[in-house]
Amino acid sequence: MEQHWGGQAMSGRWYEQAIVYSLDVETFQDGDGDGVGDFAGLTGRLDYLAGLGVTCLWLLPFYPSPNRDNGYDVTDYYGVDPRLGTLGDFVVFMQEARERGIRVLVDLVVNHTSDQHPWFQAARRDRHSRYRDYYVWTDEPPQDTRAKLVFPTVEDSLWEYDDAAGAYYLHRFYTHQPDLNIANPAVREEIRRIVGFWLELGVSGFRVDAAPYLIEQLGITDAPIDDPHRVLRELRAFLAAQRGDAILLAESDVPPDELRSFFGDGDEMHLLFNFIVNAHLFLAFARERAAPIAASLRALPAIPPGGQWANFVRNHDELDLERLGDAEREEVFRAFAPDKDMRIFGRGIRRRLPPMVGGDPRRVALAYSLLFTLPGTPVLRYGEEIGMGDDLSLDGRTSVRTPMQWSGEAGGGFSTAPPDRFVRPVIAGGEYGYERVNVARQRRAPDSLLNRIERLIRARKECPEFGRGAWRVLETGEPAVFAQESRWKGGRALALHNLAGDECTVSLDRQDLGEGPLVELLGDRDYEAAPDDAGGIRLGAYGYRWFRVGAMRH
Ligand code: NOJ
Repeated sequence: MEQHWGGQAMSGRWYEQAIVYSLDVETFQDGDGDGVGDFAGLTGRLDYLAGLGVTCLWLLPFYPSPNRDNGYDVTDYYGVDPRLGTLGDFVVFMQEARERGIRVLVDLVVNHTSDQHPWFQAARRDRHSRYRDYYVWTDEPPQDTRAKLVFPTVEDSLWEYDDAAGAYYLHRFYTHQPDLNIANPAVREEIRRIVGFWLELGVSGFRVDAAPYLIEQLGITDAPIDDPHRVLRELRAFLAAQRGDAILLAESDVPPDELRSFFGDGDEMHLLFNFIVNAHLFLAFARERAAPIAASLRALPAIPPGGQWANFVRNHDELDLERLGDAEREEVFRAFAPDKDMRIFGRGIRRRLPPMVGGDPRRVALAYSLLFTLPGTPVLRYGEEIGMGDDLSLDGRTSVRTPMQWSGEAGGGFSTAPPDRFVRPVIAGGEYGYERVNVARQRRAPDSLLNRIERLIRARKECPEFGRGAWRVLETGEPAVFAQESRWKGGRALALHNLAGDECTVSLDRQDLGEGPLVELLGDRDYEAAPDDAGGIRLGAYGYRWFRVGAMRH
């Protein structure tokens, strides 16, 4: 009989089995009572994160910044925003994280800088400055680049005229974020220096912001690089030489046929965020049908050894539906963002999951059960584990970036400062207010989302098959049910998810599943009846069940 335990070595690729948790230091925990989250506060919450089962943190940008794009507008790549602490606080945080076996990834935001960065300030003032060629300039911008705008409803051009410079500069994102000139070897040297610096401080890798734009050469006329992916290969080689187990996790939101190129031949990015599956998850939720999930998994390219998908439900940006067809996107909008104000950039939704599904705890739990079983590495975002809501009265994507809700105390336990000094208002009152939705309260309720997610993480760690196994979608005869089997190193795990609000019983071909009993690992509730010999498996409304195929030691 096949057995899963037995102390087999993992692949050695820690990120294939990681539980990633992303947070913004500024909104997680205030340690000094000034209303802004900081490294001291975060360090004090490491035991909470370890207890949840998180193995790797991804910190959103915490560098000095004018903060006009939530820190994605950097003025100093080698420091900590003074509001969040000092480099010393960062090092203490790293030491404490290491004590708990938690790795740390930081954001590498080098497609652009802030326009306040000293490089840009020098470049605009002096044509002969060595920093001039750090950026992309033109005297005459090409007409009609609207189609390529990333923030179409906010910006109206990719080029901005700068009086001091007497030329136009390229900015893929906001006007205040001039793009760096990646074709300039000096810029690539700077990037290596930044990478080397944070590796030396102990980080396990980087989330690479805007990877496709980083290597694109729009507007670069002077000696462009022949093969832009060379930039990523060089970065990877540098990283590997500094620290063998460090990784690159790229934001690469491109069509399926372009994804593979970012993995290269296993010599570029280690992980890519799975935007394709993400958008289709929401289509599946809207339709209460499994087919979009299966189709999106099949649409993904094969990835080289060492490559991995990073799955997520929501991130700090809009829910991006660009990869859906127009009619599909409309369906998701109708289901989850009926008001125009809930939508953004013409392609996305600026809400967190629970309000989108009407606060139905079954649908929320279902989404996270799926997250922890889909092929790849799961990435949670702070507040998801307690089902935090959004604040649509805040501008743009800020709606989903409110402070973490720790307790029912004033300020939600985020900060003891007077609320008017909070970096952002904590959600108060109503269904998602801190008084009702908070960590302290959910700790005490055995069936809370927090405790469910903790159990899901425990089970996920016991099922490495889901991380990197060979997977297939099983036929159940029930269109609402997504059934997936994953196999890895002799182990077999099975997950069933009912996307619809009606109970059902599905049949699996037992022969197809191979020998051995189905051992229940966890479910949305206690299903008394074990699956019968004919393979009939009951699933509650929006229910889920995980099984191991074959006997298991208890
Ligand atoms: C992607 C980040 O996720 C987003 O928040 C930011 O606005 C852009 N990159 C620009 O840095």
